[in-house]
Amino acid sequence: MKVAIGGDHGTIEMKKAVYDLLVKDGHDVKDFGTFTDEPVDYPDFGQTVAEAVASGEFERGIVFCGTGVGISIAANKVKGIRCAQVGDVFTAKATRSHNNSNMLALGSRNTGLGVALEIVKAWMETEASTDERHVRRVNKISAIEEKYFK
Ligand code: RB5
Repeated sequence: MKVAIGGDHGTIEMKKAVYDLLVKDGHDVKDFGTFTDEPVDYPDFGQTVAEAVASGEFERGIVFCGTGVGISIAANKVKGIRCAQVGDVFTAKATRSHNNSNMLALGSRNTGLGVALEIVKAWMETEASTDERHVRRVNKISAIEEKYFK
């Protein structure tokens, strides 16, 4: 799968570990940075990765900041993005299955590296449910976008 990743200065180690896992699992991964610990602004990386996914060039995006929250909020401002901030494996599976999330946000300060890698694996491997009720609900999210994204 084509996967775009990116995160801020506090997330280099986790981002690299996720990059290595994805490559090992056969994915085609592009890292949009940042690559040093010089302070940067997480919305810039949330936007870049979200636009790469929304354009259709990448099927999934994974983003990182201290909590995973700020960068998920930024990513969700891009039309077509459903970015889930996740801290456990149950939610990783549920958000793929129920919400058809196309982006995952992880926190480097609130989530251990081992858990983060398990989350990524579970999230990458779970299919979106084709159950009518889940599809209907995701379609309702798209309808909200249609109303507010001009
Ligand atoms: C950066 O210091 C920090 O605010 C950011 O990584 C993130 O946690 C924001 O939600």
